[in-house]
Amino acid sequence: MKGLLTAGGHGTRLRPITHTKNKHLIPIANQPMLTYAINYMKNANILDIGIVINKNDKEIENIFGTGKKYGVNLTYITQNSPLGLAHVIKISEDFIGKDNFLFYLGDNILVGGVKKFLDEFDKLKSNCHLVLSKVKDPERFGVAEIKNNKIISISEKPKNPKSDYAITGIYLYDSSIFEAVNNIKPSKRGELEISDAHQYLLDNNKKITFSEITGWWKDTGKPSDLIEANKLVLKNILKKNKPFDYNDIKLKNKINGQIICGANSAINNSIINGPVIIGDNVVIENSIIGPNVSLSNNCKVINSTIENSIIMSNTSFLNIKQTIKNSLLGHNISINQKTDFLNEINLIIGDQGKIELT
Ligand code: TTP
Repeated sequence: MKGLLTAGGHGTRLRPITHTKNKHLIPIANQPMLTYAINYMKNANILDIGIVINKNDKEIENIFGTGKKYGVNLTYITQNSPLGLAHVIKISEDFIGKDNFLFYLGDNILVGGVKKFLDEFDKLKSNCHLVLSKVKDPERFGVAEIKNNKIISISEKPKNPKSDYAITGIYLYDSSIFEAVNNIKPSKRGELEISDAHQYLLDNNKKITFSEITGWWKDTGKPSDLIEANKLVLKNILKKNKPFDYNDIKLKNKINGQIICGANSAINNSIINGPVIIGDNVVIENSIIGPNVSLSNNCKVINSTIENSIIMSNTSFLNIKQTIKNSLLGHNISINQKTDFLNEINLIIGDQGKIELT
């Protein structure tokens, strides 16, 4: 069993962050998002993994290298242009060969990993095994129509969905998928659609089975999805973490709930409402942080309040009187407030942003 992981695409919904950063490297609980997918595969004993990246993208390889430090073997596959998920599979045929494989969209985050889906696929001996999740907005996804516990049709982002079952970014295939991706035609938007490849399998009497995700799963296409994923991951990892035991920080601050704090970080006269993760060399003074905040390395928060947000490295907040909430901030941003007439601020700011609230 091999693994195929996406790390390319357009990332339009996450601009301006994605102007300077591949979205799969946006930190969730201070870890690049793609780390979670690699770990899910490793934990399911999938050690030979292809990562599909955009042309000229060196960022992913610079971070993950050969995969040795994650206990896996990574091969990078370049997609010259983001021509769709079925196109991703088509260009990976040489890497996959005759093996079965797990195709995983690198911007998906879930709890509990992928092992149970592999076991189901093995047991059911299907050509394609899809992982479904009940959602409130199926029109945003590929949707499976189910009758008598069988998938009978699949449609991509339908205006009138035939069920609430979204097809998540977790798919298991045998090599029949290559016949499908080599026979379908591009859709109106010019992409080779994965839903068309699945419909091709159905039309050609291939066996498609499915599992349903019962815990949480997030497709992190938009800023609000990332902020929600960060909250869920923080809750999950901090549940397993040993109790916070930095006595010096406890003495100088009020700590509620679970937190993780990196090396050389100084926190003074502040309230930290877990779950919160704080990176290395962070300074927090006279501030309120949390719940659900990830602060990366070298951030500075003085006289400010931050809730439910992801803050990337080297970003600073000075004298922000209103709560910064539900925000996604890039690297090297500085925000400095000089007057106090706002109620709440919601921000999506790319790297190097400089905001003065006067
Ligand atoms: P999407 O989130 O559907 O698309 P996108 O990343 O281009 O973002 P946006 O819609 O905001 O412009 O992509 C799902 C996953 O597949 C994600 O990991 C990116 C990846 N992808 C590729 O690697 N190649 C492609 O051709 C496409 C369409 C997506």
